[in-house]
Amino acid sequence: PFIKDLFGLTDMEEKIRQAYGLQQVVIVPGDSDHSPHTKRELGLAGAQVLRKVVKEGDVIGVTGGSTLAEVANLLTFPTSDTNCMFVPARGGLGENVELQANTIASTMAKRTGGQYRLLHVPDHLGDEAYQSLMSDPNIQEVVEVIRRSRIVIHGIGNAMTMARRRKADERTIELLKQEGAHAEAFGYYFDREGNVVHKMPTVGLKLEDIMETEVVIGVAGGSSKAEAIESILKFGHEDILVTDEAAAQVIVSRC
Ligand code: BG6
Repeated sequence: PFIKDLFGLTDMEEKIRQAYGLQQVVIVPGDSDHSPHTKRELGLAGAQVLRKVVKEGDVIGVTGGSTLAEVANLLTFPTSDTNCMFVPARGGLGENVELQANTIASTMAKRTGGQYRLLHVPDHLGDEAYQSLMSDPNIQEVVEVIRRSRIVIHGIGNAMTMARRRKADERTIELLKQEGAHAEAFGYYFDREGNVVHKMPTVGLKLEDIMETEVVIGVAGGSSKAEAIESILKFGHEDILVTDEAAAQVIVSRC
């Protein structure tokens, strides 16, 4: 708390919390774009927030990404009998294995003595493939579990960064630009005002589910992500934001 007050972080937390009607905002000092140490602190803060909100028997939906990978690596729960189930929020989104939601869900389960279920769904699903996958009883069962998530913890990215990281083709990139895609979270692309403009075809949590999830936790930092975070906040379904000083400064200056 002392360090936070020294940097004025507590004030910024409160400003952002009020501006977007959030339950809680946590800001760590620094800029995770430039400092691996800050990114780790961001991960640790995300892990602490999750540890606090979790209840016995919870289903926790997680996304992929390097930030959530940090959260996973630093996650601990008080006892091994909290008995949580970690699931990927959505199926294949074109990430490398280390950054996939499946990997992160299994790491979190192992670190906390919880359980996990995986979604084996390939990327870039066509309509027909989607329909046939959805009629598979195993997939249906996992999707049902996923849709029961009481908590969702997710990363936030810049639309273009994420599209390129997922190796979207030039046509899709052009389309995203035309649609005004600015931010990305859980496979949905948002414009500056927080409207959904594009979604990746996969299975798992739908936007309606996210809107109804009891606790949605966004973990993202770095000055380059400030505006993307802002558009997800405008979308209006976050409950807790964990970010860093560099992103927070930009967000506060525009509140
Ligand atoms: C992806 C999530 O895996 O990670 C996205 O599905 C998120 O929703 C992204 O935007 C963030 O990644 P990073 O590496 O910037 O934390």
